[in-house]
Amino acid sequence: MIATRTAPASGSRSCLAIVLAAGEGTRMKSDTPKVLHAIAGRSMLGHAITALVGAGATDVVVVVGPDRADVAKEALATFGKARIVVQHERLGTAHAVLAAREALMEGHDDVVVAFADTPLMTTATFAGMRAAIASGTHVLAVGFEAADPTGYGRMVLDSEGLGAIVEHKDASEAERNIGLCNAGLLALSGRHALDIISRVGNDNAQREYYLTDAVKIARGLGLSAQVLIAPEDEVQGVNDRVQLARAEATMQKRLRDAAMRAGATLLAPETVYFSHDTKIGRDVIVEPNVFFGTGVVVEDQAVIHACSHLEGAHVGRKASVGPFARLRPGADLGEKAKVGNFVEIKAASLGVGAKVSHLSYIGDASVGAGANIGAGTITCNYDGFSKFRTVIGEGAFVGSNSSLVAPVTIAAGAYVGSGTVVTKDVSADALAVGRARQVEIAGWASQFRARKASSRKA
Ligand code: UD1
Ligand code: CA
Repeated sequence: MIATRTAPASGSRSCLAIVLAAGEGTRMKSDTPKVLHAIAGRSMLGHAITALVGAGATDVVVVVGPDRADVAKEALATFGKARIVVQHERLGTAHAVLAAREALMEGHDDVVVAFADTPLMTTATFAGMRAAIASGTHVLAVGFEAADPTGYGRMVLDSEGLGAIVEHKDASEAERNIGLCNAGLLALSGRHALDIISRVGNDNAQREYYLTDAVKIARGLGLSAQVLIAPEDEVQGVNDRVQLARAEATMQKRLRDAAMRAGATLLAPETVYFSHDTKIGRDVIVEPNVFFGTGVVVEDQAVIHACSHLEGAHVGRKASVGPFARLRPGADLGEKAKVGNFVEIKAASLGVGAKVSHLSYIGDASVGAGANIGAGTITCNYDGFSKFRTVIGEGAFVGSNSSLVAPVTIAAGAYVGSGTVVTKDVSADALAVGRARQVEIAGWASQFRARKASSRKA
């Protein structure tokens, strides 16, 4: 067997990621655990795990507080192979890492420790941490130049790299003047990780087992420690709702920039809200004030007009949505389909070129290619107990202000007269009209006015 000559940075190496999620999160003032609060439609925990898996983590252990089935569930929903361990007492970050002792004993090539409340870390940075370990560094800490270093651990450099990380509360005046701060994330050589972290004590101002002590301990053992510098906005932690909003803003900017770089035009980018999984094609135009909930795909050359709200929807090529449209989960617009103003679509497909231009609700339905749904058409899909489907064939024409009482089928090419309440299936190419016949009483209006005028005089 011949060894590969160019060692892959970290590609074939096994990686254990330990995600600390046992935070108290009291400053969120919330019934929801901090790490389950969402950014761009995904929990902070979900973001952290996804970035780690993207960077090649082969095993993921999530450290949760006692009785946190909800956090465990979210971890497993994000990464089915995640393992959950419980930190019963909150005695510090190194103590939390040791809750993953069994996994640490399995002998991975590298170990990455991440915080679930630091959700903006990118796959690229995690990959950079792993690459440093792959090239021989034993402990790698992520640092950043903090605009305001208060509260952060400070990174003390020496001629050989990183000498120590000193927590703010334990730092001397001179150390507090250091601007290079610890982001909290750490990568360790798998061979040494358990040994190093087991040696951490709690002889400090907070009586906590500090993960940051891994640096000093490694250096004392004659091992190397280095710093990887990351942009501050990537390592920002979330402790309260103000920081949550700041992290959201950073994430939104990333998502908007990515959409534009991939060929979409955002007329007013700062007013468009994306979810982490929004997919926008080339030459798509998004007008101002558009909200993309999770699960939206917009194909090339579609236009999303102003003030529209989309979630769980697929918008086909050259289709047009809005202004003021709402696409709910299961909305599926074919090529060149049109959904106009004040229209809501839910669990319904529109065929190629089908049009629902104004003031309609189309739910639990399929609308064939080229069909035209007049203004104010409503699918009556719900009887208070169950939902029923409406099927509208290709090229059908539904007149304005019609109620389609499901289950009902309007076959291809049929017409429905305006104002009809459709309760029975309509055959292909037929006309269905169901409304009271109009009557006309000649001269009625002038007689009415005369009567009113004389009663006023009296
Ligand atoms: C930590 C770093 C500090 C760094 C800062 C960056 C340590 C000792 N200090 O400080 O150098 O500048 O992050 O934000 O690591 N956690 C547990 N169990 C525990 C304690 C913490 O799971 O027993 C989790 C928390 O939920 C959180 C993370 O670990 O996600 C960090 O803990 P926290 O107490 O917030 O550390 P900091 O004091 O902010
Ligand atoms: Ca913190």
